[in-house]
Amino acid sequence: MTRLERETDWRLRVFDSLSFPTIILKPDKTIVAVNSRFLEKFAVEEQDVIGRKCEGVNVKYYQDRDFPCLRNGDCPLTKVVRFRSSQSVLMKFTTAPGQVVWEERVFSPILADNGEVDYVIESIRDVSRVKNLERMYSGIRELIDKVVQTSVSAIIAADRRGRIIMMNRAAETLFGYSAYNSENINIESFYPPGVARDIMARLRDERIGGRGRLPVTRVNVRHRDGTEIPVEMTAVIIYEDGMETATAGIFNDLRERLEVERQLKDAHIQLIQSEKLASLGRLAAGVAHEINNPLTSILLYAGLMQEQMEEQHPLRQNLAYILEDTERCKEIVKNLLAYSRQRAPARAYHKLNDIIDTSLRLIRDQKLFLQIKVVEDKWPQPLLVNADKNQLCQVLINLIINAIDAMNGSGVLTLRTYEDRVKGLAFIEVGDTGGGIATENLSKIFDPFFSTKELGKGTGLGLSMAYGMMEENNGRIFVKHTGPQGTVFALELPAVAATDLILFDSIG
Ligand SMILES: Nc1ncnc2c1ncn2[C@@H]1O[C@H](COP(=O)(O)OP(=O)(O)O)[C@@H](O)[C@H]1O
Ligand SMILES: [Mg+2]
Repeated sequence: MTRLERETDWRLRVFDSLSFPTIILKPDKTIVAVNSRFLEKFAVEEQDVIGRKCEGVNVKYYQDRDFPCLRNGDCPLTKVVRFRSSQSVLMKFTTAPGQVVWEERVFSPILADNGEVDYVIESIRDVSRVKNLERMYSGIRELIDKVVQTSVSAIIAADRRGRIIMMNRAAETLFGYSAYNSENINIESFYPPGVARDIMARLRDERIGGRGRLPVTRVNVRHRDGTEIPVEMTAVIIYEDGMETATAGIFNDLRERLEVERQLKDAHIQLIQSEKLASLGRLAAGVAHEINNPLTSILLYAGLMQEQMEEQHPLRQNLAYILEDTERCKEIVKNLLAYSRQRAPARAYHKLNDIIDTSLRLIRDQKLFLQIKVVEDKWPQPLLVNADKNQLCQVLINLIINAIDAMNGSGVLTLRTYEDRVKGLAFIEVGDTGGGIATENLSKIFDPFFSTKELGKGTGLGLSMAYGMMEENNGRIFVKHTGPQGTVFALELPAVAATDLILFDSIG
């Protein structure tokens, strides 16, 4: 064997052992050599291939009669010859059994001494697996994207410097930004001052939820318009090769839940209030009853003593004090008895405006009203309620007296009636121009014996009685508004429907 023969033989063996199906072509597309992997793959003999043009060779193996390279008139071999450089193309075929395969074909030139292309080596790689993985991956990516986008929780991600790199639709709503113009926004503007830093510090603290993890935490976030929104959030740091590359946060708006909780708490407070009133009512009834008799005899005997005392007697003034205070005690006892009177309300249909007229008539001539301007703002149509008129008048009188007390004798007292058709409710409002109720007292004013008035002036029973009575009549009393400009108390009752009104009118 000559040196040249030995070298050729060696090259051929290398070529033959290449693990990819490979052929060598002349620039005119004639196949001059094929390796055994090629013969295996296409199940052909050397003599079927050598000397033939490449276009004719693959035909048996593939279903596609026209190859993409022919179809596009974009032959890679021609390009290799023209540019004298390698070309690679990705081709999609259907095999005879009907399977789709992706092949990457690499064409490399073998140059002659003069620099022209002598031969072209074409080697074929089956990249179907990679391609399929790629497709699957992009399918999963799309799915993840949809899951993230449609999540009810707001999800955002920010890069290392805190710039927003992703936000889903719920996040757009929660924070008021659009994902399209969010790239210049820093995550810090999504929180009240200092909060973002605090969250980062906690994320990095291994003792809290582990490194890079923030367990469910309650914070306030900030909407673009400045409103702070209570949320529950979790967050993670995303690491690549141990380096922080991004952070992601998931947020759940708590406003709705907190509102429900608040309503529940209100309902609970109301329940406690009613129970408190009921047990106090029983206690008061017992005490008032016991004290009433001794008080009567104190009054009687003190009165007798006063009668028998001379005008100038030094103890006469003291006795007068005793009588005065005992009278006051009697008044309190009378109130207590009224408060605890447990009888079912005598319900009947009444017009709300009549309740106002009657109540005013009962207290009008007292000197109470000297400097008070009374404004009546009555609903033009009759507003019917089914209630105990005496009780309603008593409630209203209590409110009017409180209002006058609050105004220190001068101001405007407004009495208003109106209805909420939609909700089927009728209202009486008592407004004053007094100094209002202090915030810390608002939760206490309906408590029995709560009074801010000087000793002996208020019993603290007026509003708690009103509360109980409104309940008995299926209604409600509440502070509609209070502030330094004055207070409005509202009485709410179920309105009687128009059909009942006809009945009422026909009865007279
Ligand atoms: N219109 C009002 N304006 C300001 N404060 C009021 C008004 N009505 C009631 N209050 C407050 O509620 C407290 C309780 O009222 P109430 O139960 O009627 O007891 P009292 O009038 O005997 O003090 C009052 O002492 C007062 O502090
Ligand atoms: Mg009062």
